[in-house]
Amino acid sequence: MQTSVLAVSVGLTLLFADTASAQTPVAEWQFDQGSGTRAVSSTGAEGDATLRGRTGWSAGLTGAHALQLPGQPGAFAEAAAPAIDTSGSYTISAAVKMDRASGWQTFVSRDGKAVSGFFLQLRGDTGEFAFTTLTRDAPDGDTDTAGSRVDPIEGIWYHLVGVHDAAAHTLSLYINGALAQTVPTRAAWKSDGATIIGRGKYDSRPVDFANGAVDSVRLFDKALPASEVRSLFLRDVPLAQRIDPNAPTPTAQITIDAARPGPAVSLSQHGLMTEEINHAYDGGLYAELIQNRAFLDSKEPVHWSLVQDGGTGTMALDSAEPVSKALPVSLKLTATSITGGANPRVGAANAGYWGISVRPNTSYRASFWARAAAGTTGALTVSIESSDGKTALAKTDVKNVTSGWKQYTVTLKTGATAASLTNRLVVSLHRPGTVWLNLVSLFPPTYKNRPNGNRPDLMGKMADLKPRFLRFPGGNFLEGDTIADRFDWKRTLGPLTDRPGHQTPWGYRSTNGLGLMEFLDWCDDLSLEPVLAVYAGYSLNHYRNPNGERVEPGPALQPFVQDALDEIEFLTGDTKTTWGAKRAALGHPKPYTLRYVEIGNEDWFDASGSYEGRFAQFFDAIKAKYPKLQIIATTNVRSRKPDVMDEHYYLPARSFLRDSHHYDNYDRKGPKIFVGEWASQDGNPTATLYAALGDIAWLIGMERNSDIVIMETYAPLLVNVNPGAWQWDHPNLIGYNALTSFGSPSHYAQVLFAENKGTVSLPMTITDGPRLVCGVTRDEKTKTIYVKIVNPTAKPQPAAFDLQSVDAVLPTGEAIVLASDNRDAANSIENPANIVPRTVKLSGLGKKFQHVLPPYSFTVLRISTK
Ligand code: AHR
Repeated sequence: MQTSVLAVSVGLTLLFADTASAQTPVAEWQFDQGSGTRAVSSTGAEGDATLRGRTGWSAGLTGAHALQLPGQPGAFAEAAAPAIDTSGSYTISAAVKMDRASGWQTFVSRDGKAVSGFFLQLRGDTGEFAFTTLTRDAPDGDTDTAGSRVDPIEGIWYHLVGVHDAAAHTLSLYINGALAQTVPTRAAWKSDGATIIGRGKYDSRPVDFANGAVDSVRLFDKALPASEVRSLFLRDVPLAQRIDPNAPTPTAQITIDAARPGPAVSLSQHGLMTEEINHAYDGGLYAELIQNRAFLDSKEPVHWSLVQDGGTGTMALDSAEPVSKALPVSLKLTATSITGGANPRVGAANAGYWGISVRPNTSYRASFWARAAAGTTGALTVSIESSDGKTALAKTDVKNVTSGWKQYTVTLKTGATAASLTNRLVVSLHRPGTVWLNLVSLFPPTYKNRPNGNRPDLMGKMADLKPRFLRFPGGNFLEGDTIADRFDWKRTLGPLTDRPGHQTPWGYRSTNGLGLMEFLDWCDDLSLEPVLAVYAGYSLNHYRNPNGERVEPGPALQPFVQDALDEIEFLTGDTKTTWGAKRAALGHPKPYTLRYVEIGNEDWFDASGSYEGRFAQFFDAIKAKYPKLQIIATTNVRSRKPDVMDEHYYLPARSFLRDSHHYDNYDRKGPKIFVGEWASQDGNPTATLYAALGDIAWLIGMERNSDIVIMETYAPLLVNVNPGAWQWDHPNLIGYNALTSFGSPSHYAQVLFAENKGTVSLPMTITDGPRLVCGVTRDEKTKTIYVKIVNPTAKPQPAAFDLQSVDAVLPTGEAIVLASDNRDAANSIENPANIVPRTVKLSGLGKKFQHVLPPYSFTVLRISTK
């Protein structure tokens, strides 16, 4: 049915009466020749179009034939002479029917020197139709895009019209006669190359080869109004090819075969992947409230300010007499004069990580290292106060600061104040004098009250995902931009005064307060198995500069291999081993269970091919000492067979929705798969509802294939949503500021997924619900059937369920639904519960029953059977 009918999925009221367009195109190709390599121009203005490469002919929409494009480089049609001026107003129309509705495809364009002057296209990043221009003839020009919410289906004709209105400075896209979107354009320039049907141009290269049929291309030298666009649609698309958008959606038939359970559902499949990005640790999970506590973030005491209340003084970084080798700079605070007033003082104030959270009746642990200059007397006051200094929330004095470095620790207890964020910590002098400060720290209560521990709310949200393992320490954070800035685990252990921290590849410095031992504490606290990634001789500068930071396999790499062996011993060795003893000295005599070690991260970036040799060297050394360890490779290698491959997928939700069968036919004889980073790319800084739907589709596919996909971790997990705090301009799972946190719709969806696992997959089939993605499992003990189902369309989808081979079905059950009419809906600090699941009681269940799946929804049906 769907191959012959034109789909109308934008919200529109169609007129079914035919009217003729009054406008005459300046160029037009009907593609009705059906053979040869010339497509005749009906206006003559631009001349005939020449078919290039493997471009051919197929059945047309508006006549006998259409142009058939194979989606291959070199295949397109071109008409030499330009008939429209792209710096002025113009309109492009075309009918397209794709054989493959994914990737970047341009149906009509006009060549510039470096890029196309316009692209009437399918975008690979959103999977949606668009009319796109760049602000100049260069790939780094800004992009203006009139997009759509039409998720195209293969084999269906779509009528696309792009309108550039030079007077209004707008771009508009119409689909099937209805306006999809109008956006402002910033600049228009004249592209005077050929008109191209079937590809675009970018970076001076032909790109975006179209895959399918293109019919009736027209160019107009004016911006057609909506009424004319509709007339064009009515003229091009025969009545019989239009469908009524108000026609009822056919009921999807979902048949579940309970007699043939498939593979067991893996409970150890789901894990956590985080790294120091988006202030995930410092300013995030790691509960420290003071930013730049060791004064290493910059050459200036950034995040600190001088307080002069009834006094004058100075504050500066000073490298004389450092507190430790690792922390070579301290803050020198001098009160030059105290002149008087209610509470005269000179102090240093820290603004925290975009604020300091304060809760009522709560104890905070403040600590700092200090030394005083000779003659400095009187106490230092430590206070938590409002950012304007007007309200003291908790304070205490530290007396007798010595002339040598010493750590001072105090408890600050708040009273019955409201929870707030706009606060600061101040350390102040009340008499003239000088002190040096370092490691100025403030901790709220932490998860399980661990000293130097983690934020309870974020630990709780991770625990809700029911993870079984933790992949750490990255990600790019493992590799660093340079070798010196890799995650050098030995420098992350022990007292904080011994941890120098390092620059991360994400543009800020890590304190490494959350170091290797804290990763392991985190594993203990959430009952996670560590999955350890070891630095493998490749840092990211090498990607930007091939002569940059990389270690050749061979003797130069050996110290790094030894570091990895030491690290494995640190985790797994008994207390008689060198590194096992060091772990015990840090408070954890019991060795950790370690089954997986990953060699590097995303080494496909290493175009030199050195991973082959680097991997082999690590693999051999680790297997020789630890033969049972499973070794994970990050890209293909030939000389050794990795036990597991780490694959990463950052794709539009739409791609995941279409590719949930990705692993169904994967080679079962090759390495097992760890999908170590994946996420639908819809929303920022946190995932939208649509992203959640893509994520669930992908999870359904991974769960069904858990015989081969043995582990998976969504990434990135954590984002501090303050402007300036995040670098990953894509979705993240959990957002927060210093005070509160929220789960994205995808977080709620993944929690739901984790709570409704079952123990075996059940086979199922869907007919008449082409967009639905469904996974069915059963708990073999309780015989509860879990149907997890995604409706990614804008319409309610009725579904008829047929549970085959079950003896009996309890008539009552539950549907838990995450849904909204707005697929772009997200949660936020201000509106954390905008999209949350709701539970609906079901009645009338049986071996056969009907249920309507709401628009843009993820539904879990819990059905009790015998
Ligand atoms: O998850 C964010 C980054 O994406 C990771 O650091 C890296 O491995 C990937 O490129």
